[in-house]
Amino acid sequence: MDIAIDLGSDRTRVFIENKGKVLDEASVVTYDTDTGEIYAVGDEAYAMIGKTPVGIKAVHPLDGGVISRSELVEDMVSILLKEVCSVKVVMPRVITAVPCDVTEVEKRAVVNAVSSFGVRKVYLIESPKAAALGCGIDITTPHGVMIADIGSGTADIAVLSLGGISVSKTVRQAGKAMDDEIVKYVRKKYNLIIGANMAQNCKKEIGCVIVPNEQKTFRLKGRDAVSGMPRFVDMTCEQAKEAIEEVAALIVSSIKDVLEKTPPELTSDIYTDGIILTGGLAKLTGFAKLISEKTKLRVRVHKNAADCVITGCGKAIGYIDAAGKNIPSEISPILAAY
Ligand SMILES: Nc1ncnc2c1ncn2[C@@H]1O[C@H](COP(=O)(O)OP(=O)(O)OP(=O)(O)O)[C@@H](O)[C@H]1O
Ligand SMILES: [Mg+2]
Repeated sequence: MDIAIDLGSDRTRVFIENKGKVLDEASVVTYDTDTGEIYAVGDEAYAMIGKTPVGIKAVHPLDGGVISRSELVEDMVSILLKEVCSVKVVMPRVITAVPCDVTEVEKRAVVNAVSSFGVRKVYLIESPKAAALGCGIDITTPHGVMIADIGSGTADIAVLSLGGISVSKTVRQAGKAMDDEIVKYVRKKYNLIIGANMAQNCKKEIGCVIVPNEQKTFRLKGRDAVSGMPRFVDMTCEQAKEAIEEVAALIVSSIKDVLEKTPPELTSDIYTDGIILTGGLAKLTGFAKLISEKTKLRVRVHKNAADCVITGCGKAIGYIDAAGKNIPSEISPILAAY
């Protein structure tokens, strides 16, 4: 049995051959800061963020799509995998997605984290390639496809053709950076201190880069920075836009950079087909429309945007044996094996 894992900055997803997606939980670990003992992982740990007593911390151990706290990621991966592999699989092979600009050190960290479960071999695939496979696109043809996988820690933008990456750019600022901007905005504008989960919920509810016709507000509850007392404010869509638009603009300009560097023959394919957005942040209100306005191209959000990478990693399992048999690399989407 082979397993695919998408170790995202916000969520960890696991796909098991012949079963499909079996796990989708927050990439969060709650641990004792003195002893290192793990209290909870996944969604259970997410609910503890900002609510832990002294000596216990709930953290996202992945940041910007890469591992920032390796020992915590290793514990998280092995606990989550144990949950879904009830009968311990004997040394499975694992395929996992990494950002396009991943360094050797970062690759090693991912391989070590995944290996903590006891695996036979680890295969890596770039996120946009996995996302394209997950969208059901045949990436082996000489046809340019532009994909932007926009998640929490990264926006991974690539033009694919003939099974490879022609041009790519990874922006290490996406959904999480927007949450941080909302926290800063509210602190500055209202003197109100709010938590990270509150900011994320606000972004999902009313966050937008183009203000929608239907006006909504979101009640932000927190602590007054001056009096220290509990207080709330109602945030509007316009204000949410103001808070997050700089991060959105950075992602849009990176998409334009990739387009500018794309060879003309591939550009003409993209002109015909448009850009495909995947990843959780692709669902942000107005994001596809904004990218379309700025690039003058058609932009589509895949209907299961957040699941494209894990679905694609699952499909890439089918190429593992090809990778071992020295089948030409342009046919296999797999980047490296360890
Ligand atoms: N409906 C929504 N509107 C706005 N943002 C959303 C929505 N749903 C999810 N998000 C955001 O999408 C991000 C998560 O996306 P995704 O699951 O693709 O990230 P990830 O794979 O964990 O991270 P990465 O690939 O960057 O390491 C979070 O920032 C989340 O707040
Ligand atoms: Mg992701």
